[in-house]
Amino acid sequence: MLKQETVQIIKATVPVLEVHGVAITKTFYKNMFQAHPELLNIFNHTNQEQGRQQTALANTVYAAAVHIENLEAILPAVMLIAHKHRSLGILPEHYPIVGEYLLKAIKEVLGDAATDDIINAWAEAYGVIADIFIQVEEELYQKAAVNGGWRLFKPLKVAKKEVESDLVTSIYFVNEDGSLLPAYEPGQYISLRVKVPGEEYLMNRQYTLSQATAEDGYRISVKRESDHTPNGKVSNFIHDVLQVGDLVDVSVPAGLFVLEETSAPITFVSGGIGVTPLNSMLQSLKDDAANEVNFIQCARNEKVVAFSDDIKEKVNTLPNATYTALYSDEDKLITKELLAESVANNTDVYVCGPSGFMEAVIKNLHEIGVADEKIHYEFFGPAMQLAK
Ligand code: HEM
Repeated sequence: MLKQETVQIIKATVPVLEVHGVAITKTFYKNMFQAHPELLNIFNHTNQEQGRQQTALANTVYAAAVHIENLEAILPAVMLIAHKHRSLGILPEHYPIVGEYLLKAIKEVLGDAATDDIINAWAEAYGVIADIFIQVEEELYQKAAVNGGWRLFKPLKVAKKEVESDLVTSIYFVNEDGSLLPAYEPGQYISLRVKVPGEEYLMNRQYTLSQATAEDGYRISVKRESDHTPNGKVSNFIHDVLQVGDLVDVSVPAGLFVLEETSAPITFVSGGIGVTPLNSMLQSLKDDAANEVNFIQCARNEKVVAFSDDIKEKVNTLPNATYTALYSDEDKLITKELLAESVANNTDVYVCGPSGFMEAVIKNLHEIGVADEKIHYEFFGPAMQLAK
């Protein structure tokens, strides 16, 4: 337990730190990577360049500190981040490094305003928050290692590459010795850790598994990206360099954006490559599932849309399902009215796509009265906020 005095200092200084958030986190990463370049094998460099992760980590520490007396309240957000950390192999020994450089950055940016009392209070708070992450992540590591799983990364063999559309290619991974891979829940992702030619450090990326659980292999479906986007270099490496028979370091499936069991109607709303987790969820429904199911797939056009044939086939098998494709090149966009037609009061809605698309869909769903707990989503990339 933190002393009351410490809690007061934390609460009083959070707004100040938030004001200087960008400066603090830039200083933090710059100094930390200078002293510990090995961490560049773990962090996403493109997120760094774009300043995305720079705000995610520090903002989460500040937000957690606000809840320091009632950390239970932020446990759902902690779990999401812990899944990401576990899939990336973040270990207890990494936490003191992050803590040291975060505190040093606060001191450097705030100067004399950062008194010893303030720095000590933040050191204590960071320690409490880090301990929670370390404990939750250790439980996840233990779970990952059972039933044919492993703790960190394991080389899996590329068994097949399959072109899905002009933009998307699927990769199938299997165990080298032919043994079964651990089962996963539809919607979960794996991390790949690859050495891209010409890059000094290893690169890690998460990709959602794009089919219903299949023990004989994991399939990911990767969109070709421009080199300047966070996934660009790895995505192009996967498209152009990776060959059948190659070995790639992979971690056990992780993530909490999964299909929940329900007898209620389900509506899936996908934008672009956000279709991968939703297709995996749809394919995992039993062929005789009595739920009313609506799948709304938004894409630029017919050439780049992925999995539409698989989705249609599954929808035709289900007793009570519909499929709608909306192509923006034909000026067909998702609207509130369209959503209202596919969503009843008790519908569970699963949304996945680029962040602007998701924000718009979620706003529309709120406006037509869908309750928060019926809207299921997870933003790609660094979480922008701590709690929904
Ligand atoms: C991702 C918070 C400690 C490495 C994240 C994200 C948050 C976060 C909010 C974004 C999650 C998402 O993508 O959805 C925190 C907090 C920490 C902490 C509050 C301390 C209490 C660490 C440590 C390391 C680390 C010790 C390793 C040295 C990463 C990496 C990512 C990540 C590599 C993935 C995003 C990227 O590569 O840019 N963390 N983190 N974090 N964290 Fe942490």
